[in-house]
Amino acid sequence: MCGIIGYMGHRKASSILLKGLKHLEYRGYDSAGMATLSSKVEVRKDVGKIAELEKRLRFEEMEGEVGIGHTRWATHGRVTKENAHPHFSQNKKIYVVHNGIIENYQELRKFLKNNGFRFYSETDTEVIPNLIQYEMERGKNFEEACKAALKRLDGSFAVVIMHEGEEKLIAARRGSPLVIGVGDGEYFVASDIPAFLEFTKKVIFMYDWDFAVITKNGIKFYNLKEDREVERSIDVIDWDAEQARKGEFKHFMIKEILEQAETIQRAIMQDEDIVAAIVEEMKKAKGIFFVGCGSSYHACFAASYIFSKIANLHVNVMLASEFPNFKHFLTKETLVFAVSQSGETADVLEAVRAAKEKGSKVISITNVKGSSITRYSDSFLLLNAGPEICVLSTKTYTSQLALLTLLAYAYAGRYEEGRKRLKYLWNVVYNLTSRTSREMIKKLAEKLKNEEHLFVIGRGLQYATALEAALKIKEVSYIHAEAFAGGELKHGTIALIEDGTPCMVFVSEETEKEIISNAVEVKSRGGYIIGISPKNNDVFDFWIKVPECGVANPIVQIIPAQILAYQLAVLRGYDPDKPRNLAKSVTVK
Ligand code: M6R
Repeated sequence: MCGIIGYMGHRKASSILLKGLKHLEYRGYDSAGMATLSSKVEVRKDVGKIAELEKRLRFEEMEGEVGIGHTRWATHGRVTKENAHPHFSQNKKIYVVHNGIIENYQELRKFLKNNGFRFYSETDTEVIPNLIQYEMERGKNFEEACKAALKRLDGSFAVVIMHEGEEKLIAARRGSPLVIGVGDGEYFVASDIPAFLEFTKKVIFMYDWDFAVITKNGIKFYNLKEDREVERSIDVIDWDAEQARKGEFKHFMIKEILEQAETIQRAIMQDEDIVAAIVEEMKKAKGIFFVGCGSSYHACFAASYIFSKIANLHVNVMLASEFPNFKHFLTKETLVFAVSQSGETADVLEAVRAAKEKGSKVISITNVKGSSITRYSDSFLLLNAGPEICVLSTKTYTSQLALLTLLAYAYAGRYEEGRKRLKYLWNVVYNLTSRTSREMIKKLAEKLKNEEHLFVIGRGLQYATALEAALKIKEVSYIHAEAFAGGELKHGTIALIEDGTPCMVFVSEETEKEIISNAVEVKSRGGYIIGISPKNNDVFDFWIKVPECGVANPIVQIIPAQILAYQLAVLRGYDPDKPRNLAKSVTVK
């Protein structure tokens, strides 16, 4: 996944692009670059993070009011200056930034080589400007050449293209996100809204196969699949530019963890009629699937316990990437819930497509209005968590849980009771994220910071929390953390417990007796027990008190684990917002 941006207007493009790239850096951070158009096109790009490149390449010196920029997460080709974007055509007239994968690039590269083109990078992207040059050399104008070239590409991509000598940007998407920001006499185009949120809240979400021609006088849209001009409307989003800034915080991760007292409340502020209509669909359905990836999958997994407890309803929970193995069970009466923060995750999108092909109904739960998954769904609910910039899901995970819990209550005919119970969490979450609480967890992080392995156990709802806690610790601190259902450890993995091996134990009133006995089993083999529990217990070497919240336990109990993961990353010297090898939204399969 990469971040792309384009600007066309009356300000200095390089400053706008630079700001935008900083907001998009969560999408990729191994190299970056930009190209601006004044009398000629100038390109500056290299390996490194944006803050460092800003100093080294002095982007802001670049002149022009039109430009494109890119921040890369390498997929095709190593992390080198040559592979950094923008890429350009052999005649150095056409410049492209690209997010996604061109599946048939080898074949196209061969075709272009046979036609005398040379390549300077190992990327799939470089075929795009050269294909456009090829088409222009055969008499097409820039716009028509772009259309012809893009039609030849297979795969999923979003691109912004610029041509020397033309005050124009071409933006196109197929499978990868791209959104246009409409300002006053200026246009922005980017992989994600925060890139231009400071300048406008008016957005146009591009559809798959859309091709936009952006000039200072306006935008024309075509759909390349339908081969015709199309209309696209402007949406006004209610995200706040402040939400996309770090403010006084050192990292987005901690800022977003601390926002949860509020974001959980926003997640449950839903239109009651829409919730009622979704409940009706659930009642009619013969078979319900919850699909997601990573943390969103963990939210689905927790929700399956919540629906079982509150609504006496069985739902099938499935990793989106494994869903194809079960798609033959889909019928017109199946209901599929697609849960995805970004609304762009490729595996979830594929599950949605599979469901639609079988005539099943799809309801999505996402944080991004206008995202591909919301658009392909029959209806959707939004998390309203505001932009989540840190690569790790924190606030959107608890928002997903809150919303799914509310749905379970609604299904059980206890909507108001559910809302009240979830509203009450404000105070609990506020306390759990307080300075005192963070300081206490920091002490634990100091103790754990040099560990290589850590185990996490829980039963029932707490098992889901254990899975999410282990993921948080792994992805940001690079400590190997593994989660088990409390009863499972003794079936093999307990062999790994040695003197001092840390084991986090999530306890609820309901599971207390059994999980404590599992903790004793670990302690007897020398384990260091960290209890996340409403009550203290002799078996705990370290206790983090979290009040008992019943079915809302997953929402509150994950918070100390998020803080611990954050503190571990900081103490070990890692950037929590941009963990190695990861991307915020995984738009490739
Ligand atoms: O945007 P999505 O919710 O579909 O993303 C799913 C996963 O990629 C995401 O939750 C990932 O696991 C995060 N790194 C978790 O912190």
